[in-house]
Amino acid sequence: MTQLTDLAEVVERALRAPSVHNTQPWLWRIRPGVVELYADWTRQLAATDPDRRDLILSCGAALHHLQVSLAARGLAARVERLPDPEDPGHLATITLRPGTGDTADAALFPGIDRRRTERRRMSHRPVPTRHLRTLAEQASRAGAVLLPVSSPAMRQRLATALTEAARTQAHTPGYGAELQLWTRRHARGRDGIPANNLPPHLVGLLSSPPLRHFPAGQLRQPRHLPGQGPADDAAELLVIATPGDEQSDRLRAGEATSAILLAATGLGLATTPLSQALEVQTIRQTLQQEVLHIPEHPQLILRIGWPATTATELPLTPRRDLRSVLLR
Ligand SMILES: Cc1cc2nc3c(=O)[nH]c(=O)nc-3n(C[C@H](O)[C@H](O)[C@H](O)COP(=O)(O)O)c2cc1C
Repeated sequence: MTQLTDLAEVVERALRAPSVHNTQPWLWRIRPGVVELYADWTRQLAATDPDRRDLILSCGAALHHLQVSLAARGLAARVERLPDPEDPGHLATITLRPGTGDTADAALFPGIDRRRTERRRMSHRPVPTRHLRTLAEQASRAGAVLLPVSSPAMRQRLATALTEAARTQAHTPGYGAELQLWTRRHARGRDGIPANNLPPHLVGLLSSPPLRHFPAGQLRQPRHLPGQGPADDAAELLVIATPGDEQSDRLRAGEATSAILLAATGLGLATTPLSQALEVQTIRQTLQQEVLHIPEHPQLILRIGWPATTATELPLTPRRDLRSVLLR
């Protein structure tokens, strides 16, 4: 029988999931043969993420990390999403069942420790179409779609939407304070984004849609190779979308995010989740109706490309330890 200690180790791997501003907005309960996942609403970014989309996406990513960790241990499990209609914070119950783990999920496991959010300039080398197809398959296994924003006209419209979202948020009371709060944790802090993971300023991205403007950090941009300008890279922009926009769709989008990020990491690609354009309701609508022209609901943008050849390895971001996120 699987021991509680085994499940504790599996949950510990799930804590490596990405989350908005590294808020880690999750709580877990471990019982014999069962793991429960809850949202930690106290970690919501009220100004940045008023409708809790990023929070649920982050928990969905942790849920998928958990499934990957179980599969890598050869354990099969049944996942019930939102099992309690009376408690929207109870996001999933994962119950071990007889059988062996899903091999496709298990194959993603090495990505858990290798994945990082890359905010620096990426390489000028294009991402092969077959890799984009692999990532789209990962999205569809998780119940979402992955749409490339490839034509110059679409990219331009997306860039405009992102700039507009940044402008709106700059005037949203509390938005700037949340940025400061989550990027200026004390030295031994176990959450938030350390300065070592943030570039000093956004050079080298002049013709790419703007990344979120975090307070300046200490992460150096890679040197650009002779003959290549600093201004551009060949990173792809892809949008994760779901058929609906209920909490269950956002949870699925989070699971898809994890699946895509881990698969991309396995291929040697660098990744950046970009949620700004989805955090502002009017911009989200613009994205759906005027940029992408899709019936599905956009949930998150991913920037994916080869890391620059001269880029140094990114440091790991911290995580709270298991004790701090366990419910009795
Ligand atoms: C839902 C979601 C939204 C995010 N939005 C952004 C964003 O807009 N800009 C950004 O640079 N990083 C974004 N991130 C990445 C987080 O900041 C990152 O996962 C966190 O700091 C932990 O670092 P790591 O991914 O390197 O482990 C987002 C992540 C998630 C899951």
